[in-house]
Amino acid sequence: SISANIGNEVFQSPFINAAGVFDETAAEMNQILNSEAGGVTTKSATLKPRKGNPTPRYADTKFGSINSMGLPNQGLDYYLNFIEKNEINKPIDLSISGTSREDNLTALKKVQKSSFTSLCELNLSCPNVIGKPQVGYDLTAIEETLTAVFEFFTKPLGLKLPPYFDLQQYDAVAKILNKYPLTYINTINSVGNGLVVDAKTESVVIRPKGGFGGIGGTYVKPVALANVRAFRQRLNPEIKIIGTGGVKTGLDVFELILCGADIVEIGTALAQEGPHIFARLKQELTDIMQEKGYHQLSDFRGKLKEY
Ligand code: DHB
Repeated sequence: SISANIGNEVFQSPFINAAGVFDETAAEMNQILNSEAGGVTTKSATLKPRKGNPTPRYADTKFGSINSMGLPNQGLDYYLNFIEKNEINKPIDLSISGTSREDNLTALKKVQKSSFTSLCELNLSCPNVIGKPQVGYDLTAIEETLTAVFEFFTKPLGLKLPPYFDLQQYDAVAKILNKYPLTYINTINSVGNGLVVDAKTESVVIRPKGGFGGIGGTYVKPVALANVRAFRQRLNPEIKIIGTGGVKTGLDVFELILCGADIVEIGTALAQEGPHIFARLKQELTDIMQEKGYHQLSDFRGKLKEY
């Protein structure tokens, strides 16, 4: 079996779409649900629908992608309604990304009052809203937000975090997160504000913010492995981890789980290959496990060896 648990949810396969890929509309989310994905993540929602940043705002590159979407989404009610109107028999990762703390609290109050029972993910790491810093890089803001959230929120909550790059940052963030009844974290969001250059035209490749945008794909895989590993070594064992970043093959899934991920999410590779990627990942992961004599994910989860 390649099943995995987060909170009360059972994922029959340990991979789903990363927030923002194949998940803005009901038609896209249904394609994910009808694939071999273990569940579905919804596009990070704001209280009101948003059109997002001017285009072009996404580009595939040699080793991944760059994007500055700017939170185009149908609004929280659309996603809550999609979940309520469909009898979805897989876990749902409902992503919330308000553009202010007040909006996040209002959105989470709405989720708390709704009939939603699956996993809710508060995104503290969108790098692309013009003029708004990533909350995940402000430790005081993380702490104040979580204190306010857990005054009323009793459903399973996860946090989408930006990548960290310094061991002291992991210590400081984990110390804060361990004070709260979080169900999981999701690490990493895109590596924010990278720049891709087209030498031929001597120009940037996306329009918003002068070409700066979130980097995903193969470039970021070692950063994802490090963030999953570093948090697994520091977080309370009750807090599960969704590993996201640079997953393209079953081997990448295996490596993230070896570093401590419970399940993984696929962004750039899903955008490039489409939802049939999940059938390929399932086959590749199963083959690796068979070759190594593993029967379940817990046989190797978190068991990365050190010298
Ligand atoms: C967007 C990008 C992100 O990385 C994120 O976490 C949320 C939203 C976006 O540009 O739409």
